[in-house]
Amino acid sequence: MNSVVEIRGVSRRFGDVMAVDNLTLSLGAGEIMGFLGANGAGKTTTIKMLLGLIRPTSGTVSVLGGDPSDAKVRAKIGYMPEIAYYYPYLNARELLAFYGGLCGMDGKTIRARTDELLSTVGLADTAKRPLKTYSKGMLQRAGIAQALLHDPDLLVLDEPFTGLDPLARIHFRELMHRLREQGKSIFFSSHELGETELLCDKVAIMKAGQAVYQGPVRQLAGDGERNLERLFLDVLSKGGAA
Ligand SMILES: Nc1ncnc2c1ncn2[C@@H]1O[C@H](COP(=O)(O)OP(=O)(O)OP(=O)(O)O)[C@@H](O)[C@H]1O
Ligand SMILES: [Mg+2]
Repeated sequence: MNSVVEIRGVSRRFGDVMAVDNLTLSLGAGEIMGFLGANGAGKTTTIKMLLGLIRPTSGTVSVLGGDPSDAKVRAKIGYMPEIAYYYPYLNARELLAFYGGLCGMDGKTIRARTDELLSTVGLADTAKRPLKTYSKGMLQRAGIAQALLHDPDLLVLDEPFTGLDPLARIHFRELMHRLREQGKSIFFSSHELGETELLCDKVAIMKAGQAVYQGPVRQLAGDGERNLERLFLDVLSKGGAA
């Protein structure tokens, strides 16, 4: 299987802080990877390198066979940031029209995708209200629609469950699984172990910039002993990288 994401021996230093330390991981087409770890473990830094927003101090990042700082590669990535700052006086429809324009999509396609996605994320009835009147979860839903607008091959989501109510989480999971069936790849960071276990195929657990566990999730689920929470606690309580 061709890798959609290939991170090889990547480190990123900020002054004295080694935010990511010799990380190697890969994600194939039609795979969902959950990226876990304590606050400050290096998740968002890795995501920023995946998007070509910052460069590794050393090592290589390849996305969809190219360099993520290349606009052609970026056009195939959908990204939802940890905290999104949208222009508050736009409504959800205008937000998507704005992003669609940035992506070079034509007006007709933008309108069709906007209708489809606003209804998918449950914002069809509130799409004409300015974003400044949105609740946290509604903004998160708008962010999901924005990330999916241009039908990307790779979705990169930084803490996608934050603010979503239980029903929205279920819908979100179903949506992600449908995208996986279409062969899309999804890379998301999270602190929500239960949701992660239900959503993804494999996980990487970060500790102080290093991946201390990488592996499938399915073999963990259901045996009552080695669920993701137990694994998470196990690997983080051990010293060093596994
Ligand atoms: N621009 C920056 N300048 C200096 N240090 C930074 C910068 N960005 C991140 N760091 C540091 O790098 C480390 C990793 O941060 P990062 O944001 O990647 O963590 P995270 O795993 O996403 O955490 P969280 O779960 O809190 O979102 C932290 O020690 C952080 O302080
Ligand atoms: Mg983060």
